Amino acid sequence: MTRPQHFGWFLARGFGPHGWGHPYLEWDYDWTSPALYQQAVRTLEQAGFDLLIIEDAPSLGSPSTIDLRVRQAFGGPKLDPLLLAPYLFAATEHIGIVPTVNPAATLPYTAARQFATLQHLSGHRLGLNVVTDTGSARHFGAAPQLGHDAAYDRAEEWMRGVRDLWRSWPDGALIADPAAGRYADGTLLQPTVHRGEYYSFDGPLNAVPFTDGEPVIVSPGGSPRGLGFAGANSDVQLVLAPMDEASVRAYRGRIHDAATAAGRTPEDITILFAIQPAVVSSSEEADRIVAASRHPDDATLRRIAEKQSSDLETDLTALDLERPLDRSVFGDHVSHGSIRRLVGDHDEDAPLRAILSAHARLGRLHDGSGWVGTAGELADRIEEFGTWGNDGVLLWGDLHPVTLHRTLDELVPILRRRGILRRDYEAGLRANLRPF
Ligand SMILES: Cc1cc2nc3c(=O)[nH]c(=O)nc-3n(C[C@H](O)[C@H](O)[C@H](O)COP(=O)(O)O)c2cc1C
Repeated sequence: MTRPQHFGWFLARGFGPHGWGHPYLEWDYDWTSPALYQQAVRTLEQAGFDLLIIEDAPSLGSPSTIDLRVRQAFGGPKLDPLLLAPYLFAATEHIGIVPTVNPAATLPYTAARQFATLQHLSGHRLGLNVVTDTGSARHFGAAPQLGHDAAYDRAEEWMRGVRDLWRSWPDGALIADPAAGRYADGTLLQPTVHRGEYYSFDGPLNAVPFTDGEPVIVSPGGSPRGLGFAGANSDVQLVLAPMDEASVRAYRGRIHDAATAAGRTPEDITILFAIQPAVVSSSEEADRIVAASRHPDDATLRRIAEKQSSDLETDLTALDLERPLDRSVFGDHVSHGSIRRLVGDHDEDAPLRAILSAHARLGRLHDGSGWVGTAGELADRIEEFGTWGNDGVLLWGDLHPVTLHRTLDELVPILRRRGILRRDYEAGLRANLRPF
């Protein structure tokens, strides 16, 4: 049976230079101006999307590899998505906006106050994508660079502190009754004294309570510690995983177990699987694109090398494509997992051309081998995910109008006709996540 699902859009490389390296740059949108994002987010709202999530990384990375990250704008620059959010709220009425935030960068009291402000201003449409990147610690003064799990411990303490501050105004504290001549009862406010391992602050918060719930907490971490964080704290979990039935069901099971272990229920967490489809106009065109991807030209390989060089902070662009990849080019800052993801199952003798070519290889939607296909084929796949109990999908890409129209123009009517995509909104992001 078809079931409705939730739809999110993920602006995958943050609030940065959109269209860089693509022909559609000639559309002349200015990525530093709100008009581009306002136009795009109105389209997403018209399409019935629940939320827009904006990736972020506050740092340009290690001082020695900054050029690799900014050369083709894969790793920066990025402006702060929290400050873009009010422009997007002002341009829309229903869709949720979810900037990425890092507990290392903002103290709990400041964070609680800024998020409370935006939650009120937006009609309860704010979400926060809480991430634990530690590489940017050196930009934030006293904050030491923590290990992977300790960063999640700090994020949990931060989340607890932020929520305690939001709750420092209990029921009855806000009176706002002109007849009684009283705005608030300050004697009811909770002092909220926090002395923790990572933060120390006093409340109560100088803000009024929410009428339709707290901002929605989103998390993307996939490690056991990341899932533990999601189970205890998140309303929405983002997942990047193979999209076959066994993998989807297993991942959902792990998140549900984590929620139960934290004293919550599986229904408390909406799980969105991230996908990056390429919608084309016919299955013949899709077949042609997939066949061509098996023989990438040097310009395509160069683009892949530039993206990998930025992500791995290691210059692959100057290496000989015909020679094996010498693993010693990777410094200690590159995790073994990242190198494994680059190299795949190639052995030490494989030339760099073969390794990069594997990243160019595309697959077809209709047989589950990849994400190239028609809007109808994509709708079939999403409908199938629903039969596995899936809550929704997160479409991954830039936020350029060209990308949105290519992906959504034909897809939205098909999903609507099948009852998979919402037609009406509830009041606020939290309420929109609830009904199915
Ligand atoms: C859909 C998705 C969105 C993500 N967004 C961000 C982001 O905006 N900023 C960031 O630093 N990391 C982001 N990440 C990375 C995660 O925070 C995390 O580091 C990664 O999923 C590995 O999980 P782990 O740290 O629990 O091992 C994202 C991951 C996924 C799958």
